[in-house]
Amino acid sequence: MNTNYSQIKSNSDLNKIAPKYKKILEKTKPYILTYSGNLPHYNLSPWGHDTPKENIFSCIDARHARFFDLLQSLDQLSFGPVGMPMDKWVFFDCGEMPGGVYGFGVHAWDLSKEVQEKYKIDDSYKGLIPISMYIAIPMANGDWFGHNLSSVSTLLGDDFKGLGLLTKAMGIKVYNIKNLYGATQWESKSLNIHLQLSDMELRSAYTPAHSFNKTITYKSFYSDQGLINSLSGDARKAKSWDMLVDVMDDDFIIDLQNKIEFKGERYLLVGRPEYRDNKVLLPIKKL
Ligand SMILES: CC(C)(COP(=O)(O)OP(=O)(O)OC[C@H]1O[C@@H](n2cnc3c(N)ncnc32)[C@H](O)[C@@H]1OP(=O)(O)O)[C@@H](O)C(=O)NCCC(=O)NCCS
Repeated sequence: MNTNYSQIKSNSDLNKIAPKYKKILEKTKPYILTYSGNLPHYNLSPWGHDTPKENIFSCIDARHARFFDLLQSLDQLSFGPVGMPMDKWVFFDCGEMPGGVYGFGVHAWDLSKEVQEKYKIDDSYKGLIPISMYIAIPMANGDWFGHNLSSVSTLLGDDFKGLGLLTKAMGIKVYNIKNLYGATQWESKSLNIHLQLSDMELRSAYTPAHSFNKTITYKSFYSDQGLINSLSGDARKAKSWDMLVDVMDDDFIIDLQNKIEFKGERYLLVGRPEYRDNKVLLPIKKL
């Protein structure tokens, strides 16, 4: 996979990020898929990294049908194994129209035959192939909700390690998000990404409204400096915490939910997961 597509501008803060993320920016092209009426509210050149005009897709244009199918392939390749693939109407109603889908893509000639087959790409398709996406939706109170984060970096090899984090960090800047709510599972490896970007306040610890009860609803705050720092290449470390939660300890998690829901207690996840003694532990602070 050798094609270089984009150069980081000399005065951009992106010059401060770790080489692995810069390499991904150079080897991919950003895209956005949304309703055109949303575009004036978005930053299509985050830190000067331009989204090419030909990669700004309108979700109501039929001519992009193939690209929409490929996004669904990306979703199936990433979310399929965790049991949450989306129907196309969910993409459209809950992502593209009210919010947007931002991510990175490459061309078929950049992908191995094996990956092309997984995407079901035929020789006639010469367009962009999405390899990551971040979908966010505005909420009625002015905050945002993170709807989907997907990356197929594990299919693409070591050159693409970091694609998931980079996609969320750049996406937040594109949508101009400060306060973000999100839902993720206690056992999800994506916590490495969310907690690399910022602390997460637990709004719920156990969420029967979701398909998976053991879902965290969180709220995070993002600043430009925090986003750039998250891409420094250094893992963000918790400075202090009150307890380490074992993500398999269901009783503890339900008790935490009761404390949040009935006693109004507030808890903050303050650091990335620690992998120890076959356990995944998360540092938590009581506010
Ligand atoms: C979760 C997902 C987006 C991660 O994408 P990715 O491209 O592999 O993520 P990154 O390479 O940016 O990894 C970010 C960090 O997590 C770490 N990480 C990734 N997978 C890990 C795992 N299984 N165990 C421990 N750490 C892991 C990486 O080492 C990296 O650490 P670093 O910042 O110290 O380098 C991707 O696997 C995916 O699409 N999964 C299915 C959908 C999903 O669960 N989405 C999240 C919904 S909330």
